[in-house]
Amino acid sequence: MLVAGNWKSNKSFNEAREFAHAFSQLPGAPEGVEVMVAPPAPYLAAMGADSLPFRLGSQNVSATGPGAQTGEFTAEMLAGCGVQDVIVGHSERRDGHGDDDARVADKVNRVLDAGLRVVFCCGESLLDRQGDVHFDKVLRQLESGILHLPAEAMVNVVVAYEPIWAIGTGLTATAEQAQEMHAAIRGWLTEAYDAEVARAIPLLYGGSCKPANADELFACPDVDGGLIGGASLEPSTFHALVEAAGRAVGNREEANV
Ligand code: 13P
Repeated sequence: MLVAGNWKSNKSFNEAREFAHAFSQLPGAPEGVEVMVAPPAPYLAAMGADSLPFRLGSQNVSATGPGAQTGEFTAEMLAGCGVQDVIVGHSERRDGHGDDDARVADKVNRVLDAGLRVVFCCGESLLDRQGDVHFDKVLRQLESGILHLPAEAMVNVVVAYEPIWAIGTGLTATAEQAQEMHAAIRGWLTEAYDAEVARAIPLLYGGSCKPANADELFACPDVDGGLIGGASLEPSTFHALVEAAGRAVGNREEANV
């Protein structure tokens, strides 16, 4: 299970450091649960990746290499700052910042070439869902974003399904809606690669995931954690999600005995 926080453009630098300190005072992640936090980019180097109680993530990366690209930061620069995971293809970047499918695929390649793990986001709009094209939409995003990757590269790929209509709206996909899309993604990965590769890729759900609904979502067999926005901003709330993931791991182990 992976519980990943995406702070988006929130928190001052001091608040970010205070969060890391407060989170480190809480019990460590349960066995089988990884935790990642993606603070705003200007804070990454100064977060001190080595002493953080979570993996350090970036919310973005350049689609190009080094050179005359004012304002851009490359995957290698992120790696040098201790970043381990990079979120690519978030709907807020696809819709508001020009990250089209081709650029998203370039970013995926840059992240993997730098030896980092990519958290590849996909998800449909409300209109897509109402028009019953949500499966097509998500599977097309996977096709253009990751199908070109060789099977060996897939160990550094996480997929996050984030229905746009559930992001920051308080509306959450039901466990049933999340599970059926995650099963479709797992099925697509099985066809594109094989069952072993598909099983090993963590599939995160994102969109108003919070302590009140996390147990139900994480209990879905194809939901392997969450990409958390609003509920990742406060240490004890985020920690409650980490504990929910721990319970899900425990339940899965019991079911497999
Ligand atoms: P919320 O949890 O605030 O809905 O945001 C989800 C998200 O976009 C995480 O990347």
